[in-house]
Amino acid sequence: MKISVKKRLALGAALLSVTTGVASAVPEGIADLYNESFLVGTAIKSRDLMGELPSADSLSCREFNAFTAENAMKWQHIQPAPGQFDFALADQLVAYAQQCHARVIGHTLVWHQQTPDWVFEDAQGNPVSREILLDRLREHIHTLVGRYKGKVYGWDVVNEALNEEGSLRDTPWRRILGDDFYVHAFRFAKEADPNAQLYYNDFNMYKPEKVAGAIRLVKQLAASGIKVDAVGMQAHYSLFYPALADIEHSIKTLRDAGVRIAMTELDISVLPLPDDAFSGADITQRFTAHPVYDPYVNGLPNAEQQQLAERYQGLFALYLKYADSVDRVTFWGTTDEESWRNNWPIRGRTDYPLLFDRNGRPKPAYEAITQHIP
Ligand code: XIL
Repeated sequence: MKISVKKRLALGAALLSVTTGVASAVPEGIADLYNESFLVGTAIKSRDLMGELPSADSLSCREFNAFTAENAMKWQHIQPAPGQFDFALADQLVAYAQQCHARVIGHTLVWHQQTPDWVFEDAQGNPVSREILLDRLREHIHTLVGRYKGKVYGWDVVNEALNEEGSLRDTPWRRILGDDFYVHAFRFAKEADPNAQLYYNDFNMYKPEKVAGAIRLVKQLAASGIKVDAVGMQAHYSLFYPALADIEHSIKTLRDAGVRIAMTELDISVLPLPDDAFSGADITQRFTAHPVYDPYVNGLPNAEQQQLAERYQGLFALYLKYADSVDRVTFWGTTDEESWRNNWPIRGRTDYPLLFDRNGRPKPAYEAITQHIP
């Protein structure tokens, strides 16, 4: 998956040519274009996995070569009640990916969000013992990872286990199982499919403290005999943050620690927020809606459209610069219409964070990162 020098130079020139306004048709999907550098993925919504699957010439199928279920494999959807697994949508994701020759990325096995309360409680609603929770975790991971053994390329085994300053987050997982809860999760995943890639995934990984925390986890796992195949840097960004230099610093820190990287959950909100210090992707964080925070309901002005394109261009230039360490770049959705950013962290807004507009047409941001390589 390494990019050739010729292609790297050509792509560099193409990225540059965006600023000079030289445009040309794109004969291949974005994933084909970056094929020699890294996988380019998208998140698939549950609604697309119900009923008949999108065809092989659907936009996601044409453009991307790695699929993550946006929600379908999360605990609350796949094991909503004790021992009741509902694999219908996840099976569809695997079928869709096979039809599109895309890798499947499993998301996610251990998270403090979108996990039902029953997982941590007994019949009276009291916290369960360590032994019971460990049993539930083992059963969940063995059942899920076992079912898709050889079909899921890699799993986000643990999601968002770190506080902003790099320490372990206080969650029911940690409270009941102890500080090594994540080691158990990785161990169960490895037992269930020894050949699947195993990832640690978190947001705000452009912060040095958080990256240091992730590296600590990776080292602790290595000491327990478990290799983390990549650290996922969730990239829920904005036009206003983070600085490219901070992202680059984190990439270098991970690379120098011998850790491979996946850019996961990439989207770039263009909308203003009430809190200048806001960042991250804590799904419980909410602000009250107000028209002032939703200025583009009738369309994105050219200036912002161009800003978005340049931001994507900067990011992809960075990803290419570190292509030797970056295995995958996954967008959190395909079209602006389907993006979760329309509803987070403020509900009901009109955001423009992805590469394709509400009609599935490529935006200037798409052109900016896919200029044809001769
Ligand atoms: C989001 C989904 O996009 C939404 O549809 C859902 O309501 C909440 O979760 N970090 C993650 C993702 O790891 O799973 C989250 O996805 C976004 C933040």
